[in-house]
Amino acid sequence: MLTKDMPIGVIDSGVGGLTVLKTLREKMPAEDFIYLGDTARTPYGSRSEEEIRGFVEQMLNFFDTQNVKLVVIACNTITVLGPDTLQKLHKYQLIGMSKGAKLVLAASAKKNIAVFATEFTISTHAHEKAIHELDARAKVTGIGCPKFVPLIEGEKFGSNEVTEAITEYANTAKQAGADTVILSCTHFPFLQGEIQKILGTAITVIDPAEQTATNAQHRLIEEGLLKLSGTGNLTIGFTKDVERGQRLAQYIMPGLKATYKNVTLK
Ligand code: DGL
Repeated sequence: MLTKDMPIGVIDSGVGGLTVLKTLREKMPAEDFIYLGDTARTPYGSRSEEEIRGFVEQMLNFFDTQNVKLVVIACNTITVLGPDTLQKLHKYQLIGMSKGAKLVLAASAKKNIAVFATEFTISTHAHEKAIHELDARAKVTGIGCPKFVPLIEGEKFGSNEVTEAITEYANTAKQAGADTVILSCTHFPFLQGEIQKILGTAITVIDPAEQTATNAQHRLIEEGLLKLSGTGNLTIGFTKDVERGQRLAQYIMPGLKATYKNVTLK
């Protein structure tokens, strides 16, 4: 049986989901969280669906042993596989990233939106479909950004390579005439300041983490599983390079207190 006192699991292919973990903790400070980033095999976004599904199953099996009440898929590349197809064998609740369709349509005066995501996510057209369900006439340009994840995992913040990569993808968004860009890969908010600077003030940048955290909170309320008092313990696991993961966690959440560990998936 699931109970309020059980922790919440959070998964990503690497450090990207930490940007969602930050928002989840702000919204639900009493909850305990266990984060798992598959740093040994990131990036997922340039792999095949079969390969990604195999890795995800291992991560979800790990959470069967952790007595969690909910797993938040803090990764768009995994979310577009369809949480329903991943849920089957697991007792805990499962929720994916918000596609942010309402948010971007509200933000975009021109109804002209660019989606920055991994190549895999873009290939599924999942965000485009979600936006078109609400407004069939909106223009949606999917832009695969394969250079970002290795640069973020490699801590290359402020480098020329980062500026060049952002400029390349920003130019595609500008050429399409977009006035709103959604960051539909959870790694990308690590670069949000630099992305916003290069896109300029005429383009709004949206991070769907806040909406995802709200959705997770509502799910817990609906299920009678929201924990309202507690100190909010945090364990962060990585499948490789725990020290690098710890630095990146501190980068996104300065002063963070957490227990770090190495996790082996099978
Ligand atoms: N952070 C992930 C996402 O939201 C994927 C990054 C990757 O492994 O390619 O899509």
